[in-house]
This record gives sequence, structure tokens and C-alpha cells, in this order.
Amino acid sequence: SSTYTATNEPMLEFAKGSKETQELEKVMGQYKDPVDVPIVIGDEEIRTELVQRQVAPFDHKRTVATFYYATPEIIKKAIESSLKARVDWEKRPLQERCDIFLRAADLISKEHRMNVIASTMLGQAKNVFQAEIDAAAELVDFLRFDVQFAQRTTSYHPVSTEPNVTKNTMVYRGLEGFWAAVCPFNFTAIGGHLPMAPALMGNVSLWKPSDTAVLSNYTVFKIYREAGLPPGVINFVPADGPTYGDTITASPHLAGLNFTGSVATFQRLWKQIGQNLDTYSNFPRLIGECGGKNMHFVHPSADIESVANGTVRSAYEFNGQKCSACSRLYVPESVWPKLKERFLSILSDVKMGSPLDRENLVTAVIDAKAFARIKGYIEHAKSSPNLSILAGGKCDDSVGYFVEPTIVLTKDPKDKIMQEEIFGPVLTVYVYPDNQMMETVEVAKNTSPFALTAAVYVEDEAAKAQLVDAFRFNAGNFYINDKSTGSIVGQQPFGGSRRSGTNDKAGGPLYMAKFTSPQAIKETF
Ligand code: ALA
Repeated sequence: SSTYTATNEPMLEFAKGSKETQELEKVMGQYKDPVDVPIVIGDEEIRTELVQRQVAPFDHKRTVATFYYATPEIIKKAIESSLKARVDWEKRPLQERCDIFLRAADLISKEHRMNVIASTMLGQAKNVFQAEIDAAAELVDFLRFDVQFAQRTTSYHPVSTEPNVTKNTMVYRGLEGFWAAVCPFNFTAIGGHLPMAPALMGNVSLWKPSDTAVLSNYTVFKIYREAGLPPGVINFVPADGPTYGDTITASPHLAGLNFTGSVATFQRLWKQIGQNLDTYSNFPRLIGECGGKNMHFVHPSADIESVANGTVRSAYEFNGQKCSACSRLYVPESVWPKLKERFLSILSDVKMGSPLDRENLVTAVIDAKAFARIKGYIEHAKSSPNLSILAGGKCDDSVGYFVEPTIVLTKDPKDKIMQEEIFGPVLTVYVYPDNQMMETVEVAKNTSPFALTAAVYVEDEAAKAQLVDAFRFNAGNFYINDKSTGSIVGQQPFGGSRRSGTNDKAGGPLYMAKFTSPQAIKETF
């Protein structure tokens, strides 16, 4: 079979008045009315009485999709359906499965690009550039690179030292049972990836989209089917979180959990799986991607302009709702006056408003719950003697869930605002005395339970080596003189350890090995 070499999807610029901008406007017009999103099991569309709405975060009176929660019975039916589909799917040659997902990549790259972008802009409040990076480029990259990695992962065959006497081979089987995908709202690409990667390797999966990303996820699901994915290999099952969790963990056929979301939910599912361990026919495999409390650490030798630009982008792009977003910044006293001035100047040019207006870098946060949580941290900053607000701080949910990009200053590097994940456009700065850098590093290393991303800004070579070594275990994705966000599939495989997750590195070759349970065969002649 042929081997495939992936390259990153080129990005469209969406210049004003360009062909692609006009095309997007046309497609956007097709989303005036709410889209009806069914549960899909095999070829059957199901609608229940548990009707839900997905609203536009920037205009919460606007419904973008209606959808239906699956009941436990329907989730069980989805499991049955996928187990049936598995019998044929698992035996298909890898090449056939690769061809289907490469076709899906082409469909997203061309015919349906504007659909995935429009549904992501409307439902998840990304502006056009952010939606292009996520729903088009990153998702296409996941599809194409996973094909390359799947082929490499399965190309290993053990040696046969006496080829005329014995022959050793490996058969790369999918796992018995079904995978449960639990998907986040913040990346359409992750929604599309979590059920797809197992399927590519010969598994079947249930796709539970986030309630706040149903529209874009359904758009992607339909593209997979159009590309030739057989019915039942991936079933699309929106559901209430606990109902879904209880039902999938109660099935003896659970093969694995592919999860992106909060620490609390991942722990809850892991515990449920632990409690049910005697009932499973296989040990379920658990993959979790759970968030972060990511830092930029600045050395006195840093290039201030790149700290200022990188930190504003990392903290505020997509409203701080990237698991990789910078939310704590450590700055030496000697550079703070200049950096502060640059921050305030860059921020004064940042516009907030509807994602449908290309000028707005900051839009609305995802929902009422997120709005309340983020507002709570801003109120904490306003009322604590150790904290003060340097910029932003206003919240307004009258039309949409808008939170101004906010800079908080803290005198206490261990305040809860430096420990807990906020998942919103709030950056907290701790200014440290230049002669206490290593003490500050120790505090920074141990303040948060997470270890997802981190960046150091440093030009001095000796200090660079010292900082890189100090933060060895504080980030799965580490950046030197670059911001903590924006990993690219195939370039920086992504994932963190500690409370951030199982560090299985999506977008890299190690990931695909999780989805195969190989059989080693020795044949004697
Ligand atoms: N992969 C995304 C980033 O690095 C989350 O920003």
C-alpha cells in the first residue's frame, strides 16, 4: 500500500472583498434560521422530547441550532449499532479507512470550508480568522497527519531471524468494543478529531458534541458521512453530560474514552470506570486533555515587543478560551514599566464585539455559566487588597456574554487567581524583583496543579538554559521566545501532564498507538 506524507493546509486570508470572503457571506446567509440537528445512529435520525437550543454567544436571543438529548436507551442503542458496524469496519484494510478520511479532508478544504467556518463563527463566537485556523486548517491537518501517523504506526513488523523456519508479523487490530468521545466547545477541530482518530485505526466511536458546539460538530459529522464513512462507525449522540457518562461507563463494551474538557468531569468519568472495572471485557484506555494555568515567564534580557504581542494574543485570542491560553505572567521589575506601556497601548487597539465583524479580536465568551465564572474572578480581583485591575474589568451580558480583556496585577504570586483555571480573557501579572528570579521560578513552578503550556522569554543564553531546565515538568508544550498558544498539527504535538491530562500528544505519531491493540503472530513452517 502507498504511504502518504501530509503537509499543513494553507490558510486563506479572508481579505476584505476577496473571493473567499464573498463566498463565506453567501454561506452565512444560509444560517439565518436555526438548523435542526438530530441524533444520528446508523442511518437513522432520532429526535426526542428533550429539545435543546444552541444560541449565538454574542447574541443570546438568536438560536443557531435546535437539538435533542439522547436518553439512556438511545445511548445504549447507539452502542449496539456501533458494535455491529465494527465487525466489518475493523477488517477493512487501513488504506480504505485512510482514503475515507483523506476525502473528508478534501471536502473540508474545498466544498465545505465555508460551512465549517460559518457554523463555528455563529455557534462558538470565533471571528473569521480564528474559525479558519480551527475548523478548516487544524481539522484538515488532523485528518491528513493522522493518516500519515496511522500508516507509520502500523508499518512496524518484528524481525524473523530464521525466515525459512518461522515468520513473525503484527496485525494492527482496532480495539474490541466502542470508544466514547467527549468533545469540548472551544475547538471544532478537537470535536472532529476525538471520534475520528479511533475510527481511522479500525475502531468505532460515539460522538458526544459539546452543547455549545453542536452546530459545527454536526456539520463535520455530515462531511465524514459524505466522504464515505459507513453508517454506525461513528454515531452522533448529543446528550446531557452525566446521562452520557453514566451510560457509557456502565457498558461492558467500553474500549476507551477520548476526552477533552474539565478536570472535574475527567476525574468523575475515570472514577466511574474504576468502580466498574470488574464489568469490562477489556481495560478501557483513557485519554484526557483537561486544561491549564499557563504562564509566560519573562527574563530581564527578554525582547519586550515580542512579550507584549505574544502575551496579548495568547491571553485574549478567542477570549482566553484555549486550554493553552496564557493566564499568568511573571515580569521582572526592571522591564515592567516599558512592558506595561506596550500592553496598554496594544490593548487600546483591541476591539470587542460580534465575531461576524472581522475587526473584533475579542468576542463573547461561550455561555452564561462561563460568563458568571469569569466575572467571579474579576470581582475577586476588585475586592482583594492584594489585587488590582490595570485594564478592562467590565462584563456585560445584556446582548451576549461579553467580558472585556482584563489585566489584573497581584502582589501575591500564590493568590487563587494565579492557581485556578479561569478560561476567559483575564491575565494576571506578578512583578518580581530582578534579584529574586530563581525564588520566583520556584513559586511559579509550584503554584498551579496544571502542566499544559508555558513560555519563557529570554535572550541571555545561560539564563535560557537555566529556565528551560527549571520548567521541565511544568508544560507538555514549552515555548522559548514565543507565546504559549498556537501549536500546529505535525509541528508541535499537543498535550500536558499533571492535572492537564494524560499527555498523549494529539497531532503527533504517538497518539495513534492508543487506538490499536495489535496481535503478534509467529508462524512456524
Ligand atoms: N492546540 C491549541 C494551541 O496550542 C490548543 O493553542
